[in-house]
Amino acid sequence: MDSFLIKGGVALRGEVEISGSKNAALPIMAATLLTGETCVIRRVPDLSDTRFMVQILESLGAQVKFENGTLTVRAQKIKAYADYELVRKMRGSICIMGPLLGRLHRARVSLPGGCIIGARPINLHLKGFAALGAKLKIEGGYVDASAKKLRGATMFLGGRAGSTVLGTANVMMAAALADGVTVIESAACEPEIVDLANFLNAMGAKISGAGSPTIIVTGVEKLRGAEHEVIPDRIEAATFMIAAAATNGEVTLKGARPDHLRAVIDKLNEANVSIERKGANMVVRRKGKLKAVDVTTLPHSGFPTDVQAQMMALLVLTSGISIITERIFEARFMHVSELARLGADIEIEGPSAIVKGGKPLSGAPVMASDLRASAALVIAGLAAKGTTQVNRIYHLDRGYEQMDAKLRRLGARIERIQE
Ligand code: EPZ
Repeated sequence: MDSFLIKGGVALRGEVEISGSKNAALPIMAATLLTGETCVIRRVPDLSDTRFMVQILESLGAQVKFENGTLTVRAQKIKAYADYELVRKMRGSICIMGPLLGRLHRARVSLPGGCIIGARPINLHLKGFAALGAKLKIEGGYVDASAKKLRGATMFLGGRAGSTVLGTANVMMAAALADGVTVIESAACEPEIVDLANFLNAMGAKISGAGSPTIIVTGVEKLRGAEHEVIPDRIEAATFMIAAAATNGEVTLKGARPDHLRAVIDKLNEANVSIERKGANMVVRRKGKLKAVDVTTLPHSGFPTDVQAQMMALLVLTSGISIITERIFEARFMHVSELARLGADIEIEGPSAIVKGGKPLSGAPVMASDLRASAALVIAGLAAKGTTQVNRIYHLDRGYEQMDAKLRRLGARIERIQE
């Protein structure tokens, strides 16, 4: 398993190009199953997750070409049964259920187990499919959905932590080919949902209200092939913003969308970090001494849970006390004990972490536990004195395209150790 060796203490400087969004690309790739015609998707990041999704599409019978960020898919003849192991390995692949059910009126996929950040049930996805008239059966580790016909319906998809992103995506895709009108209340408002709706509408779907808590889908008979460019990855952008601030550098982000990052920009401003718009780019640097701030993760347009760990790595560098409250996933503090190895002082109290900043960080061997926790450890390693070894970076490769190469171009002393 590969690891990163980071010699800290260098201020990052220069420009970084933001890649296409993983969390927009995955459901859009699944949506290509809704038609037998050719779809062309551009700016698809080259990640282990997107490569997994390619395997899943091929295992269902689709012809797929993926080169230089452009994906061409023709799902002419497909089956409703997905490979158990493939789906089990990547949670995000649950979003093939909606397209299969919508087009074939049948879908059989392995239940995505929980993951290290939380139980992550799919009850809301199933609630939506049942409202559209699907019969559901869970047996042998599979969830099986079938329907003679899908009928539009009005449903409330809010749950324990508010809206569900992939649940909204899944139901929206199934409803696109249902009979009649579907109204999704308490829908997720994430930019990735808007990007998916734009792609579906380019295929001939009739979807309005994406980006708001009420999405209306008027079902159509058939969908056609379409072309689309995936939005930039707002989580990757936030990660590089925080790395720039943590190393007291100056970094220009190219290709990121500030309107997708308002909550993050607001919190960074509060922590005394400036994000200046320069044409289509954003320039990130500190305004002065970093300040402690309190952060609570919420569904979009609140502060994203996928930036919580990276923000914690920044706040250990302030000289005050910050309280970080995780409201989306019940076990998303795996990075706390690893940051403590670097010298951070953080206490967990229920859903909150109390970060007592001001203790200088020093390099050490640490272990990545999940995608965003790994990004936080890389940021802390860049800010720490001495050498940090981040192990199990396969987690990072799931969601960051060439992170080490991009950081090296910004002056970081980071190398990938292949084992
Ligand atoms: C998406 O996951 C993202 N993944 C996650 O990013 C992100 O953290 C999450 O949305 C929240 O923003 C992809 O897009 C591939 P949810 P998703 O359903 O859709 C509960 C990353 O780092 N819930 O919005 O699976 C659930 O347990 C990943 O890139 C139910 O209770 O998340 C959680 O507490 C990690 N029942 C909350 O809702 C359901 O049926 C939000 O989950 C569904 C969800």
